[in-house]
Amino acid sequence: MWMRTGQSRTLKALDTSVSHTNSHMTNLFSHVKMSSEMKAIGVAQYGAVDNLESKRIPRPSKPTGRQMRVQTKAISINPIDIKVRQGTYDDAPDYYDRVRALTQEDPKFHVIGYDGAGIVLEVGPDVKHFQPGEEIYYLGNPVMQGCYAEEVLVDERHAGHKPRRLDFVESAAMPLTYGTAFESLVDRLGIQKGERAGILIINGGGGLGSIASQIARHYLNLPVVITTASRPETKAFSQDMGATHVVNHREDIVKQIRDLQLPPMCHSSTPTSRRERSSTSSPLRKFWLPLARFAASCRPSSTCTGRSS
Ligand SMILES: NC(=O)c1ccc[n+]([C@@H]2O[C@H](COP(=O)([O-])OP(=O)(O)OC[C@H]3O[C@@H](n4cnc5c(N)ncnc54)[C@H](OP(=O)(O)O)[C@@H]3O)[C@@H](O)[C@H]2O)c1
Repeated sequence: MWMRTGQSRTLKALDTSVSHTNSHMTNLFSHVKMSSEMKAIGVAQYGAVDNLESKRIPRPSKPTGRQMRVQTKAISINPIDIKVRQGTYDDAPDYYDRVRALTQEDPKFHVIGYDGAGIVLEVGPDVKHFQPGEEIYYLGNPVMQGCYAEEVLVDERHAGHKPRRLDFVESAAMPLTYGTAFESLVDRLGIQKGERAGILIINGGGGLGSIASQIARHYLNLPVVITTASRPETKAFSQDMGATHVVNHREDIVKQIRDLQLPPMCHSSTPTSRRERSSTSSPLRKFWLPLARFAASCRPSSTCTGRSS
């Protein structure tokens, strides 16, 4: 099993005692294939990285409804996984109430991990789009066990067929960032392909903002994609990802955008954490008012999207 750290190119073997290449991926856990248990990585108690432990826990139960049982081939580490493991995830304020059973009932262990890629082993009775043997990439369900495990249950509505041009490791880095960015821009903001509109993306150098920039510029073909970044490397990265203009979120954003003398913006997307957003967004409130639409990717509710009056 391989994992990818966020958007970085650092790959690390999850189990360094096993060596293999992506092109020769075999079932690393074949020696326990018939066992009712599997190896998983997670926490019994939220906290520091040392709280992570590798443990044998029961394999997922038979998939029901639209669930699929999937053999994990690669995982990625998204910032959400780190916050969940630390016990500090707060974008969904009731998150830890919802997953309490995972650490309090048998196996008293919360398997961490949101994004993964793997092979479908078994499908539930209502699955429509996948069959056993297919290669998929997927994001987890926040109230179920995660994907740092040999096998995971995945809802087919959170999965797609693995792109042929990406290997398992590359695919595992995609689902949550890509899904969130696509949903923000296309479903919530309703941006049409080729629209003569501009967008302001706060945090263009972040995992989510960098994908949102690519979708905005290269898929939706927006002529103006303004992003924010504060360091030379994040500015250059954001431009690489599709930003037509980059402003600094540690300086006066409103002034910098006005100085660009562009036509009025139509869309704004703010993929920052709540803490970062509050520091960045207060001066922008007055700027948002003339905007037609605005979406934030931090709170899972209608508060994320709004229309200015
Ligand atoms: N990643 C995902 O898949 C995902 C999915 C759904 C929701 N979210 C949510 O989106 C938020 C961002 O996550 P992410 O993974 O995209 O971010 P990330 O990769 O962790 O973003 C890191 C960047 O944030 C920038 N930043 C720091 N302070 C800022 C500020 N005050 N204003 C604007 N930007 C600032 C920094 O840019 P500089 O170095 O240039 O200063 C830094 O490089 C989080 O709340 C997360 O929960 C993320």
